[in-house]
Amino acid sequence: MNAEGRPLSVLDLVAMKAAGRRIVMLTCYDAVFARLLEQADVDVLLVGDSLNQVLAGHETTLSTTLDQMIYHAAAVRRGSRRTLVFVDLPFLTYQISIPEAIRNAGRVLQESGAHGVKLEGGSHMAETVGALVERGIPVIGHLGLTPQSVHALGGYKVQGRDEKAAERLLADAKALEAAGACAIVLELLPAAVAGRISKALTIPTIGIGAGPLCDGQVLVLHDMLGLNEQFAPKFLKRFAELGDAVRSAVRSYAAEVRDGKYPGKEHSFE
Ligand code: KIV
Repeated sequence: MNAEGRPLSVLDLVAMKAAGRRIVMLTCYDAVFARLLEQADVDVLLVGDSLNQVLAGHETTLSTTLDQMIYHAAAVRRGSRRTLVFVDLPFLTYQISIPEAIRNAGRVLQESGAHGVKLEGGSHMAETVGALVERGIPVIGHLGLTPQSVHALGGYKVQGRDEKAAERLLADAKALEAAGACAIVLELLPAAVAGRISKALTIPTIGIGAGPLCDGQVLVLHDMLGLNEQFAPKFLKRFAELGDAVRSAVRSYAAEVRDGKYPGKEHSFE
């Protein structure tokens, strides 16, 4: 909801930064969680290509396909009525040429009903971002640890640690803003670097592992709910331990089935 109590639009993201209201974003891959997150007043649902790791068990996001993203994004849109939904463009769906980027981002909006796309990269992607925005496709940028470049970056490591790298990130962020991006995700950066970038922009930054000075925060839902238990980086706070809750519920179900207690009379038809 914006300050007047109506559903957020993409334009409200900049207004929220100007008003000092922090943006709450979470990843979401399906209609069930989309409904719950909307009821909990999350501002933006991100259909992240992290679904390739979290849901499908792959090591990286690189093999995610556009069709998979559209399938999950459509489910998220069916589960939410008034929450902004952004969708990651997968690896190689926007880097090859601007016409391909427009076609693929356009497909995401057309076939899933999502409100915008997110893509990774700095100054070298600015022209593509501009082309998408000019055609009515809202874009969130993504800087710092960009998971689609994990091999080039030598692993999932904190970025922007030296002055030169921090300066480059700042220039990248300004280029994305000038190209028309409506927000930028900053992943795995020193807090001071993320703070410096956030201060230099009018569009909001949304941090993950980038400290408290960003204009909003995003986490992978399954990580913060304790469902993806093997993933425990320093920046992650678990707000629930649903892994424990799932095991306990399933053990109770299994015990009742084995003991002949479930289903009882109240769960059976006459
Ligand atoms: O794919 C994803 O979930 C993301 C977030 C980590 C920001 O890009």
